[in-house]
Amino acid sequence: MALEADFRTDTFAINPLGPALGAEVVGLDLSKPLSAEDEAAVKQAFQTYHLLCFRDQVFTAEEQVAFSELFGPLEVFPEKDKTKGESTVYNVANVSAVGEQLDPNDHRVIYQKVNLRWHTDSSYRYIPSLASLMYGQEVIPEGATGGGGETEFSNMLLAYAALSDEMKARIEPLHMVHYYEFGRRIYPQLPPVSHDERIEVPPTCHPLVRVHADRDHARSLFITTNAGNEISGMTLEDGQAFHQELNEYVSSAEFCYKHKWRTNDLVMWDNRVLLHRAKEYDMQRYRRAFRRTTVGGSAPILGPYSQAVLNAK
Ligand code: OGA
Ligand code: MN
Repeated sequence: MALEADFRTDTFAINPLGPALGAEVVGLDLSKPLSAEDEAAVKQAFQTYHLLCFRDQVFTAEEQVAFSELFGPLEVFPEKDKTKGESTVYNVANVSAVGEQLDPNDHRVIYQKVNLRWHTDSSYRYIPSLASLMYGQEVIPEGATGGGGETEFSNMLLAYAALSDEMKARIEPLHMVHYYEFGRRIYPQLPPVSHDERIEVPPTCHPLVRVHADRDHARSLFITTNAGNEISGMTLEDGQAFHQELNEYVSSAEFCYKHKWRTNDLVMWDNRVLLHRAKEYDMQRYRRAFRRTTVGGSAPILGPYSQAVLNAK
């Protein structure tokens, strides 16, 4: 899929960030309400590039919430202690809500290592999220040792399109089991999921082939690796082996873009068509702090056999 030529408005410029996905937006101030034209241009760019990086933003959590809500109602994170202030503003940091650097063994830090695996945010929900917005307040400095703390993205529309016909046929009827607790079990030192959380986000199945009604029924590959590894209808062993094969496949450089954070970047990505994962950094040495808001999805995921898809044929 070729990206459309970059476009420009009177107020800001949109520059592609690479061949697979992503564009930077320069010259727009998100602390102020957008004009109707700018809002429409941002939405069009988001649909085209799947990831937008708004450079040089200086804005409050309330202003981030207001901008995020242009895309729909925000998700409330299932665990209240991971949020900062409002229940819709999530602290992605090795720094506490009051600014102290946390010990790398602190559960709040270990918990974030779950993000080192390819995923989309809240795939464990029956209706997963539409988009996430992460604001880089403290980022890993240039030339840091022990990893750059980048965030990497992979375009699942490209990944599906590049599959062989045989592989497309193989995945067409399959589903993956997604559940919130899986991420916890990766790190046994983390406390178990509470009864309330377990009830709020029970295991759910999603098709491996995701059909996008807003994209002329285009298809994308949909697996995550932080919320499960079981493929419904396959034995546990075979499913896990196949899941691992797909995990390696989605890491192919041709589908990916790795974002090197600058302070005051607001990166917004489309969870419907991209996977993402955090990259390592030296947690003992460096501070890394992001403020995340998440736009909820509006409908369950459509698969190739969903009635809405079959009706549209
Ligand atoms: C997240 C996440 C990536 C990162 O917060 O959901 O995946 O680079 N973060 O911290
Ligand atoms: Mn994430």
